[in-house]
Amino acid sequence: MFKIINLSKTYQHNGNSIKIFDDFNLEVSRGEFIGIFGPNGCGKTTLLNLISGLDKLFLGKIKFNKKIKISYIFQNYRESIFPWLTIADNISYPLKLHGYTRKEQKTAAQEICNHFDIKFDLFNYPYTLSGGQQQLVSILRGLITNPDILLFDEPLSSLDYQTTLFMLNKIQEIWQETKTTVLFISHDIDEAITLSQKIILLSVKPTKIIKTFDNHLNYPRNTDVLGSSEFVELKCNILSTFTNYVKI
Ligand SMILES: Nc1ncnc2c1ncn2[C@@H]1O[C@H](COP(=O)(O)OP(=O)(O)O)[C@@H](O)[C@H]1O
Ligand SMILES: [Mg+2]
Repeated sequence: MFKIINLSKTYQHNGNSIKIFDDFNLEVSRGEFIGIFGPNGCGKTTLLNLISGLDKLFLGKIKFNKKIKISYIFQNYRESIFPWLTIADNISYPLKLHGYTRKEQKTAAQEICNHFDIKFDLFNYPYTLSGGQQQLVSILRGLITNPDILLFDEPLSSLDYQTTLFMLNKIQEIWQETKTTVLFISHDIDEAITLSQKIILLSVKPTKIIKTFDNHLNYPRNTDVLGSSEFVELKCNILSTFTNYVKI
């Protein structure tokens, strides 16, 4: 689906250069669910900004196999939801930008909620929703254009535990249904293992891929799977590779 070739990225800050990526390479195939796990500040958000095209200041190449649609689900739903728009208008906002009529936008918002069995009072405003529900609104907004790639930047990091469990199931369901290529960033290893087919372990800056781990556990991965010996073994393996690398 796309390739990152010899990526280098440096920020300038107060006269200092901060090198984030130096000769970074990654190849992503269509339909894959890839988890990217790395320490705070290693450049995970930067990577999504570069892939999505929000940030164009880099050296190297990000090559897509065709013209594709990307949706980017930001870490902080509070800053990405429009409080002055109804829930329906938030979800269908990308369709508005694409010139769909009001009626088409409303129908599409209703249909996508029905499709994923999500019950919102669509003509109410986002403040009436819990944090998890607001994050779901931002995910539905990302899905409404049928993207080829979904970029998730730690979408569960500010949710409570029960909502996180619900969202872990919902994201699996959405992926199994849509088969969209997903890049899921996380600093939570359990989350990354629960969702991903492949987990990419990042180092501290300048950021390299320490190792890529395959995760063959069957979907859907419910609470039984999370307690299985395969899950625990994979988690130990990833954590010990990480601690060896950064010498904690
Ligand atoms: N616009 C910016 N200008 C200068 N430094 C930045 C900027 N954005 C991020 N950084 C720095 O780059 C590093 C990587 O940031 P980020 O990609 O947000 O990391 P992560 O998402 O992995 O926590 C951090 O050290 C951060 O302080
Ligand atoms: Mg980040």
